[in-house]
Amino acid sequence: MKKLPEDFIFGGATAAYQAEGATQTDGKGRVAWDTYLEENYWYTAEPASDFYNRYPVDLELSEKFGVNGIRISIAWSRIFPDGYGEVNSKGVEYYHNLFKECQKRNVEPFVTLHHFDTPETLHSDGDFLNRRNIDYFVEYADFCFNEFEEVNYWTTFNEIGPIGDGQYLVGKFPPGIKYDFEKVFQSHHNMMIAHARAIKIFKEKGYKGEIGIVHALPTKYPYDPSNPEDVRAAELEDIIHNKFILDATYLGEYSDKTMQGVQHILEVNGGELDIRDEDLKILNDSKGLNDFLGINYYMSDWMKVFDGESEITHNSKGNKGGSKYQLKGIGQREFDVDVPRTDWDWMIYPKGLYDQIMRVKADYPNYKKIYITENGLGYKDKFEDNTVYDDARIDYVKKHLEVISDAIADGANVKGYFIWSLMDVFSWSNGYEKRYGLFYVDFDTQERYPKKSAYWYKKLSETKTIE
Ligand code: FCB
Repeated sequence: MKKLPEDFIFGGATAAYQAEGATQTDGKGRVAWDTYLEENYWYTAEPASDFYNRYPVDLELSEKFGVNGIRISIAWSRIFPDGYGEVNSKGVEYYHNLFKECQKRNVEPFVTLHHFDTPETLHSDGDFLNRRNIDYFVEYADFCFNEFEEVNYWTTFNEIGPIGDGQYLVGKFPPGIKYDFEKVFQSHHNMMIAHARAIKIFKEKGYKGEIGIVHALPTKYPYDPSNPEDVRAAELEDIIHNKFILDATYLGEYSDKTMQGVQHILEVNGGELDIRDEDLKILNDSKGLNDFLGINYYMSDWMKVFDGESEITHNSKGNKGGSKYQLKGIGQREFDVDVPRTDWDWMIYPKGLYDQIMRVKADYPNYKKIYITENGLGYKDKFEDNTVYDDARIDYVKKHLEVISDAIADGANVKGYFIWSLMDVFSWSNGYEKRYGLFYVDFDTQERYPKKSAYWYKKLSETKTIE
């Protein structure tokens, strides 16, 4: 039986847009997702989990079930409905109340400033491709650092990688553009500048607490490790999703290997990046300032060489797992791999998490510490006897915690784990069908019911023993 350290955080993760609901309440500004969902989908982020009103219940449950940390994100457009300018005092008050409740329940909030929800005003003006919006983000960040003194752990962005990919590569996030690598890398770069400037201000102004960033790090393996072209395909995919932003975070520049890969991708697919000297100075100034890295990990992929035209299609399950994923001059995802899948065909491979942790430790020795800020199983839960017997979720979490314990034994400084998600929440690409929570949410009544996994997690948190 493997153990986790005494001071380990056993957390639960949420995000404003996926949990709060109340999308137009108390002066909140619109976000691009509001319009995008209305126009393209049969669901919206109303009511989500009504966390806007029910947070006392979720925090009470957290305390009761041994959850001693919670990832919460602030909705930028509750604070600045237009993204900048006038402050919405009701939004500010809401988050003060929420943090007060966290304190009351001894649940440490880890607060994210941006979890996919740029205010619509700024999004329609180019989102982070527009450099002026970097300034607005930094102003918003500074406002929050100053205002919410009760927060001890800040993260700037959640998953810069999937944001750029979702918006400009696979086209699943607004504005729904596909195969535009110039925009993918430029948005990643610009968001990294926004991050770097925000953490610099945080340190310069002497705000208390710690600050970091959350990256999704899906591991990319060659389908045939003895084929150099497959190895190359996996490397290029890794650059797109992981290495470019990790270099920006910890090296303060893009390594030659990274830039060679980026140049190749842009030569084949078209595009040119705007990376200025002053950008590199900002990155370089901030590279030692990250107090921690948050890693979100769900799956790994196996890559094969591919020479045709790019094509990404989504399967009927509404997500990219199991769908066609072929990129010109880069590679394709191979699904003929002998690993278990989730209900959405995501490949379950805990070793991929171990490999990512050890990669950060080896390649970015200034990482200081790591929290696993998201990991969990999206499942078609069956609600019966007022609960869900979610043994598959327990098994998934257990196997991932075991490799975390191994990584710690092998010298990695991992300080906590946040299951995605604390309670069932709204899912970007699947609405209300895909559930991840420890607590089942009846989205009609908004009642919460602990799943079997919640009882298991409670014991884990008490004993620190993975069994
Ligand atoms: C991650 C997101 C999170 C959630 C999970 C399933 O990419 O950070 O909001 O949707 O996936």
